Amino acid sequence: MSYPKIAQLKEVAAVRARLAELGLELPIDDRILTSAEGSPLAEPLDVGGFRIGNRWCIHPMEGWDANADGSPSEYTQRRWHNFGRSGAKWIWGGEAAAVEQGGRANPRQTLATPANRAGLTTLLSTLEEAHRTSFGRADDLFVGLQLTHSGRFARPHSKQLEPRIAYHHPLLDKKFGIDPHDQSIVWTDDELDGLIERFVAAAGLAREAGFRFVDVKACHGYLLHEFLSAFTRPGRFGGDLAGRSRLLSEIVSRVRATYPDLIVCVRLSVFDTLPYQTSREVGQPMPYDDLLPYRYGFGCRADDPTQIDLAEPIALVKQLAALGVAAVNVSCGSPYYNPHIQRPAIFPPSDGYQPPEDPLVGVVRQIRTTAELKRAVPEMPLVGTGYTYLQDYATHVAQAVVRAGWVDAVGLGRMVLSYPELPADTLAHGRTDRKRICRTFSDCTTAPRNGLISGCYPLDAYYKRLPEAAQLRGLKSD
Ligand SMILES: Cc1cc2nc3c(=O)[nH]c(=O)nc-3n(C[C@H](O)[C@H](O)[C@H](O)COP(=O)(O)O)c2cc1C
Ligand code: SF4
Repeated sequence: MSYPKIAQLKEVAAVRARLAELGLELPIDDRILTSAEGSPLAEPLDVGGFRIGNRWCIHPMEGWDANADGSPSEYTQRRWHNFGRSGAKWIWGGEAAAVEQGGRANPRQTLATPANRAGLTTLLSTLEEAHRTSFGRADDLFVGLQLTHSGRFARPHSKQLEPRIAYHHPLLDKKFGIDPHDQSIVWTDDELDGLIERFVAAAGLAREAGFRFVDVKACHGYLLHEFLSAFTRPGRFGGDLAGRSRLLSEIVSRVRATYPDLIVCVRLSVFDTLPYQTSREVGQPMPYDDLLPYRYGFGCRADDPTQIDLAEPIALVKQLAALGVAAVNVSCGSPYYNPHIQRPAIFPPSDGYQPPEDPLVGVVRQIRTTAELKRAVPEMPLVGTGYTYLQDYATHVAQAVVRAGWVDAVGLGRMVLSYPELPADTLAHGRTDRKRICRTFSDCTTAPRNGLISGCYPLDAYYKRLPEAAQLRGLKSD
């Protein structure tokens, strides 16, 4: 099944027509507004007592490109520099930084450990300096560091998985070759007490480096997200919602208590769906009929895990608000086992599958689910995800949904890899540079899946000239 490409939809009316054809409702403005014309994206926003200069946010994106000791390489610094000159005033996390060596998603993930104290400071100052140079000030720039443990997807030493899991998941164990009887890789409650301390220590390092906030990452299948679906886990950290969310809540509470002046935010996969089979064909979920009622997903229905159920995510966001979490960045699913819901794309990554739905459906699912969450917990500032696939029309939708109060700020991921200045260009000039718009070729995901550094190989001249670009072409033609 092939779907119309966004680049072929030459005007807003064509996008509206395509949305209508799909039975989707999404606010979309006729044209991009500048700050001077009153763009809703130019409005400041108060979060945790900090006044953020505008409503564009940059999502965290790692590049598999730090040095082996977790310190930033030239590539890492260039990416943070680009985030700084993007014009967005909210930098959500920069990238995932592991709180311990064993929690790295790859051997080149940035570390938030004392060994990389200086590196964290360098990243922040690189970003702030770039922002100041482009925009004359950085006092309204809100920058945090995303703290993570990769759990089931830890690969700290090589491409080989070294999973540390919350519980045995029948489908994910099978997909990723995990022995379902291996108890040595399941965290014990005592080990988790130690992990909580490592998160607190990492938050302290981020604070020392000058970050305004930390994001306690609970998304994309990584450890703190996986715990939210640990229905089958006995003991303090599993079972009911209070148990499954205990690890996240305790980390948040301990960081808040230890560093009262540090703002705490959470990136959350608010809904999940089944893991999909890797193939060259149209994506299919792994067979699950004998697993009903399904007890292996957060934010999806037990009787039909293909459907979203926001009851628990809403309760969790309320709980996080009560603990003093200042904002939630709403994401979903996992790029490892259902990438089409997490980062809608027309061209799949090498470990994915052909899109099982028009990627616009995935975009609207994320935007409307975020709006539902906003209605349920209006006091919690929310950042929305999934806008890159809208390509030339991302800003038209972003300003319309912010105006409508569906979300407080709009985050960009892949788009800023190909075109970092999009927020600045839209706010200053009301237009974008078509040639630099991300077309969701997925090379920035395919490269790291094959052990190469991540970057926008198709559109960023800097990556085009690297030897890795030729390697990637070879891999793709294989
Ligand atoms: C190369 C790459 C690296 C990413 N790294 C992270 C990360 O470190 N932390 C995170 O929360 N999300 C990460 N993401 C997910 C993005 O933040 C974002 O949720 C996703 O790309 C969807 O947003 P978009 O449609 O604007 O690209 C990454 C995505 C890409 C493409
Ligand atoms: S490689 Fe470039 S064009 Fe492709 S998805 Fe990533 S950012 Fe977009």
